[in-house]
Order: sequence, then C-alpha cells, then structure tokens
Amino acid sequence: MSSFAVQPSQMLERILTLEIVRVTERAAVSAARLRGQGKDKASDQAAVDAMRRELNKLPIDGTVVIGEGEMDEAPMLFIGEKVGQKGGFQVDIAVDPLEGTVLCAKNMPGSIATLAMAEAGTLLHAPDCYMDKIAIGPGYPKGTIDLDAPADENIVNLAKAKGVKPNEITAILLDRPRHAKIIEAVRKTGAAVTLISDGDVAGVIHTAEPRTGIDIYLGIGGAPEGVLAAAALRCIGGQMQTRLVIDTDELRARIAKMGIKDAKKKYEIDDMVKGDCLFAATGVTTGAMLDGVKFGKDAIETDTVVMRSVTGTVRRVRAEHRQLDKFHLD
Ligand code: FBP
Repeated sequence: MSSFAVQPSQMLERILTLEIVRVTERAAVSAARLRGQGKDKASDQAAVDAMRRELNKLPIDGTVVIGEGEMDEAPMLFIGEKVGQKGGFQVDIAVDPLEGTVLCAKNMPGSIATLAMAEAGTLLHAPDCYMDKIAIGPGYPKGTIDLDAPADENIVNLAKAKGVKPNEITAILLDRPRHAKIIEAVRKTGAAVTLISDGDVAGVIHTAEPRTGIDIYLGIGGAPEGVLAAAALRCIGGQMQTRLVIDTDELRARIAKMGIKDAKKKYEIDDMVKGDCLFAATGVTTGAMLDGVKFGKDAIETDTVVMRSVTGTVRRVRAEHRQLDKFHLD
C-alpha cells in the first residue's frame, strides 16, 4: 500500500465530513420553518427531530455525549442515546440542534444548528450546566491568555501579543448581569466590548475569524456550547480554557456520575476534545458566521461550515435543495 493510501477509518471520516452537513442542514431547515413564531420550544423540537432522523441514517455507532439533557428529562438526543446504523464507526457526538432558540423564535441574527463528532471516548462528557470560558484565535504564543487571570490582564497580554494597543482589541461576551465586573474591567483597558444576547458557540468561533474583528471571548455560557466551540477551535486553531461552574450538590452528584472527578479542573481544548474531530454548523437565521435558511420559490438554500481537525480544512457548503416536498420527510 502506498504511503498516500487512505486507511478505511480515515475514508469513513472523510465521508462523514460531508454526511454531517446533511444532518445540520436538515435540522436548520426544520427549525427555520418556525422562525419568528415566538415558539422557542417548538423550533428546538423540530431541529432535534430532524437531526436525530438524519443521524440515524449514518454508518456510525454513535453515542450522544453532549445532548438535549439527561435521559429522564429529554425525549430525544439525550446524553447517552445511541444513534446511527449500529455496527459502524464508534463515535461520540455533541449536538446543539438549535443553538440560540430565542434568536430563532424572535427571528434575530445568529441561531445555528450544530454538531461535533469524534472517535468514541474523546469528547468531554459535560452536563448541561454553566462553564467559564476564555478563547482567542490562532497565531498567538501559548499562555497569551489565562482563565484565572483578571480580564484586564488578559486584554493587555493579548494586545501585546497582537502588537496593538488595548483599545484596538475587541472582546465578545454574553450580555448578562453576571458579566458586569468583567465588562467594566475590559472597558477600563480601552478595549471594545461586543455584547451578544445569545449564541456563544459562534461567539467563540468569531475569535478565529479575522473578518469578524473579534479578538477574545470572555465569560460564562453553557458547558455543552463550550465543548462544541472547543471542537471548532481544534479544527481551525486558537486557544481556549474553560472550567465547569459546579455550585450545587445536585451538580456535584451529576458530574460524579459522568466520571468527572475534579470539579474545579481547568480544561484546555485537548482535555475537551482529546482526538481528531469534525464540526459542522448550518445557519438558521443570518448571522456573522452563516447565512440563514432561505425559502425560495423553487429551492431551499442553506449555508453550512464544516471543519475537520486532521487537515484543518474548513469548507463552506452553500446548498440548494430542490425537492421541497420530499426534503422535510425523506
Ligand atoms: P439555547 O439555544 O439553549 O437557548 O442557548 C443559547 C445560549 O445563549 C448559549 O449560546 C449560551 O451558552 C447559553 O445560552 C447561556 O445561558 P444563559 O442564557 O442561561 O445565560
């Protein structure tokens, strides 16, 4: 066999790269049918149903490790649920069928359908709790940022590493009262603060997209969203550190059940995504990263980004789906 031959497992992974596009596309279209209806739960459920249906068509033996909740509280795509055609490639799957449910319900920018896939046993099994996060894009020396350093220190160090003044740095945070002190500290350095109402998977990814002008993500968001964003940064480069916010006995018991021994552990990308992974996201409503679903007269258009860490390839897939009646049901 030549040294350029592709191993069967790699071949499957290459095929899955494009297959997972179908999964996020279908979830995005299903959610988009309910855009702007003020029905966050219904649009989320539509995305979940579509994503599950598509995942079950794939040649994988998949386990949902980041999902819609725990088995007893989520009817579908719950943590531990098995998906795929069984007997296939064993994979861990992190899903957020509709990230930014409120954005979708209000038809506001930035809701996406997203998932990450990696070899079984390599994705962090995180509960649906909060996670403290810091992230920057690629090209900076390791140690430029530190989750445990004050926000202003991180801004100053990042500005130095970028070769600019702090007032030429832009930070992105979820607009939440819990971030008041961080926002104040960042603004004192002169840096700009971009506040988003929801959607911090894209918020983290923006740090690795120079055209967005975002340099750093700071603050507390969802842990599932943190693992998904870590998978994307593993593919495109960047630095990220996180820590679960475990502040109740109930959460302590849940993480123990999931095999997490150290509740205060500071995670690097490699701790959250231990091996090679795939990441895909399709826009539901138009945002800085992706265009939303467009329902045309003759076709439904979708915009997807799909990444593969083995090669660092990032593909943009703009699809026109023509068989409108079949699209929803097949
Ligand atoms: P949902 O799509 O589950 O509503 O999550 C939206 C989101 O903004 C995430 O992007 C973010 O990580 C999380 O909610 C923040 O949680 P909270 O709204 O409780 O601050």
